[in-house]
This record gives sequence, C-alpha cells and structure tokens, in this order.
Amino acid sequence: MSMRIPATLIPGDGIGPEIVDATLAALDALDAPFDWDRQIAGLGGVKLAGDPLPQATLDSIRRTRLALKGPLETPSGGGYRSSNVRLREEFKLYANLRPSLTIIPGGRYDKIDLVVVRENLEGLYTGYEHFIQIDNDPHAVAMATGVNTRQGGRRLIEFAFEHAIATGRKKVTIVHKANIMKALTGIFLETAQEMYERKYKDRILMDTVIIDACAMKLVLNPWQFDVLVTTNLFGDILSDLVAGLIGGLGMAPGANIGADAAIFEAVHGSAPDIAGKGMANPIALMLAAAMMLDHVKLTDKATRLRKAIDDTLNIDKVRTGDLGGSAGTTAFTQALVNRIKNG
Ligand code: NAI
Repeated sequence: MSMRIPATLIPGDGIGPEIVDATLAALDALDAPFDWDRQIAGLGGVKLAGDPLPQATLDSIRRTRLALKGPLETPSGGGYRSSNVRLREEFKLYANLRPSLTIIPGGRYDKIDLVVVRENLEGLYTGYEHFIQIDNDPHAVAMATGVNTRQGGRRLIEFAFEHAIATGRKKVTIVHKANIMKALTGIFLETAQEMYERKYKDRILMDTVIIDACAMKLVLNPWQFDVLVTTNLFGDILSDLVAGLIGGLGMAPGANIGADAAIFEAVHGSAPDIAGKGMANPIALMLAAAMMLDHVKLTDKATRLRKAIDDTLNIDKVRTGDLGGSAGTTAFTQALVNRIKNG
C-alpha cells in the first residue's frame, strides 16, 4: 500500500468551498494519497470560532506541514489582520512561487511560461503603519515603514536560484527599485548580485530590471523573461499582471513555501460577486494542487492532472465563463474527472 500523506484542508470563503470540492474530486480521481484534516479560517473562522485563524487550524498545519487552502476574506473592521499574512508569518513561508503558463493557445499573449518568486514576509507588507493627527483630522498624515533584511533576501534569492536551476530555467531576473528606494530595495539587489557572483554565475544567467520598466516590458514582450524574483509588494503586483497574460486569475496557482510548512492556494481571492453561483473556475486551485503533488514528489500525478486540465480545455473544449465558455464549476469538474480516469 502506498504511504498516506497527512495534509490540512481549508475550504475558505466565497467560492472557496466550490473550487475546493472540485479540486478534491480531481485529486480523488488521481488516487492522491492525502489524509485531509479539514480546518476553518478567514470569515468562516470568525463566524464559527470567533477567530479568522483559530488555534486548531494552526495546530493542524504545524502537525502536517502541508496545506491546501481556498481564498480567505479578511473581515473589515474589528481590527483583524489578514489571515493569509498571519499564516505566512506563523510558518515563515518566505517564498511565494507563482508560475504562469499558457494553457489555452491563441490568446492575446501566446506561449507564456513565466515564474514570479515573491518575497513573502518582509518589505512594505510588515504592517508598520500609522496615522498622525493634525488639528481635527486624525488621518492627516499616513506613514508606513518597509523592512528588508539581508538574511530575508538571501534565503528567498537562494530559494529562487535553486528552484530555477532544478526546474531547468535559463534566466533569473531580479526586479527592484534601487534607484529610488536605495536602502529598502537596494539591499535586495545587492544581496542578489553578491550571491550570484559567489554561487550561481556558472549555473544560470541573471539580469536585473527596475520594476516600472519591468511592467512595461512584460506587456510589450513577456517572452524575454523567465523567472522574476522580487520583493513583497512588487511581487504581489507583478504576479497578477503575469496572471493576466495567461487568461486571468482563474488560471494562476501559488505556493507559499517556508522552513516550517508549505501552503498551496490560488492567486485569486474569494470572488464574492460569483460565490454560490456555481460559475467559479477551479483551475487555479487545481494547478495549486498539482504544485502540491510536485512538492511531495508525486510528479506523475501532478503531470496527469495538468494534462487532464489541458485536454479538458483544448480537446473537449469545456470551459468556464471567465474563459469564454459556458460550463459551470460542476460540469467542468465532471469533464476533467472523465479525462483523468479515461485519459
Ligand atoms: P478576487 O480575486 O476574489 O476577484 C477578482 C475578480 O476575479 C472578480 O470579478 C471575480 O469574480 C473574478 N474571479 C476570481 N477568481 C475567479 C475564479 N476562480 N473563477 C472565475 N472568476 C474569478 O479579488 P477581490 O474581489 O479583490 O477580493 C475578494 C476577497 O478575497 C477579499 O476579501 C480579499 O481580501 C480576498 N483575497 C484573498 C486571497 C487569498 O486568500 N489568497 C487573495 C486575494 C484576495
């Protein structure tokens, strides 16, 4: 009998439960050996346990070190911090890996195959923000402090180079704004250059680009890039931009990887506008599940899942509305499960 793999499952908010069910159907069809421990977080956590990140959920991930998670809403008001940010901090998930690969040919941009590696714990997302009151205006001045450390940059850049080399990539591009934010993003650039010289220059190419130029180049000629490595805020923005090149957020998976755990999710959010309507595209979460299968070295199952998605979209032409099709989540999932089972 094959080994079972304990893993935490967080269905999440909005379309989360719909796309998680669809993904579980695909994983079941593949006989993926996960033993799921279902937990709550986000708005669901607040409603059922009074906490967007209940202790039981944290304990479960601490035990399994592996999670598949639907999107989480951060309740506005009540002073809650984002559960996603808390999860990253709690398990030191310092690397956010977001691959973007064209699956449906013939779009505005064809044959895209890019990876964004985003630093996940530092930069301008550390939450050191406050207002200063002037006269009667409590929000007269807003201030934020970003923090990037040499050690934080080093572990992320090392992860990015090692991942790029292990997956046969040709070039790593460091994206920065060191011309203006000389300290905050200068330290990231400097660390990358120093590590490249010392450890990677004989194994892969590296170049550097300023974030604003990078955004323009991605729109004009995205094929010039391969692996983009950058700080937290720039990575957040660039990974959505890159998702747009391959047909939108419904196609973009993400992995949060760290020393203590790995959490797999879709890049998109809970899509409250379509929640409960049976229209959500589950592919982004399914591709996240494929990354999870790769992570636990079940690469044959990951490859079968990716091929079944490709065949369902391109041979069977079953597509959800966001991809111009007319299938709902269930019809797409049924077609995909048939592909997995029958080839
Ligand atoms: P969103 O990604 O949920 O939705 C943006 C647009 O894309 C909407 O029109 C939505 O209908 C569409 N969309 C997203 N995923 C789709 C899918 N799978 N199939 C078809 N259409 C899809 O972004 P929004 O509206 O800004 O955020 C909604 C909530 O999600 C917020 O509370 C936000 O904080 C949370 N969020 C959570 C994330 C996470 O848990 N990783 C990531 C991003 C947002």
